[in-house]
Amino acid sequence: MAASTQPLVAVVMGSDSDLPVMQACIDQLKAFDVPAEVRILSAHRTPEVAAEFAATARQRGLRVIIAAAGMAAHLAGALAGRTPLPVIGVPLQASSGPGGLDALLSTVQMPPGVPVACVAIGKAGARNAAILAVQILALSDERLAERLDTFRKAQAQSVLEKDQALNL
Ligand code: RP5
Repeated sequence: MAASTQPLVAVVMGSDSDLPVMQACIDQLKAFDVPAEVRILSAHRTPEVAAEFAATARQRGLRVIIAAAGMAAHLAGALAGRTPLPVIGVPLQASSGPGGLDALLSTVQMPPGVPVACVAIGKAGARNAAILAVQILALSDERLAERLDTFRKAQAQSVLEKDQALNL
């Protein structure tokens, strides 16, 4: 499944100004060899296009949607309300305002019945969104599960080496 070029994950962001941070998400998905569809869709500026995207996402073969936005970040929630697919929200820090707390609350505080899996603000969340999407896909893809295992081992090894280097 992971070797196919059919996008399984969509990485959606509210503005092109979000791309420098969301590149970390796109790169992490590439590292797992997971094809992604990348879109700029806005819950506020292009609401009809965003709604159509979400409503047709499942039938187009997508399995997970990652939605990133800053400020009054309604994108993840707006998409989640129109698709049965799991939606991972990435709150972003805007150039002005309260450092991403606005987007964090807008993304995470979904009403009961329409969940959004919200990750951390900014680049760490962007990377984690990709890893979480891969973990969801890996539930039904053994090759991806093996890649995740390798990733975790390499990550642990890197920390162990840093720890050892301190005590040389
Ligand atoms: C949000 O507003 C976008 O996700 C972006 O983080 C923020 C600012 O957008 P721009 O004014 O930079 O296009 O919808």
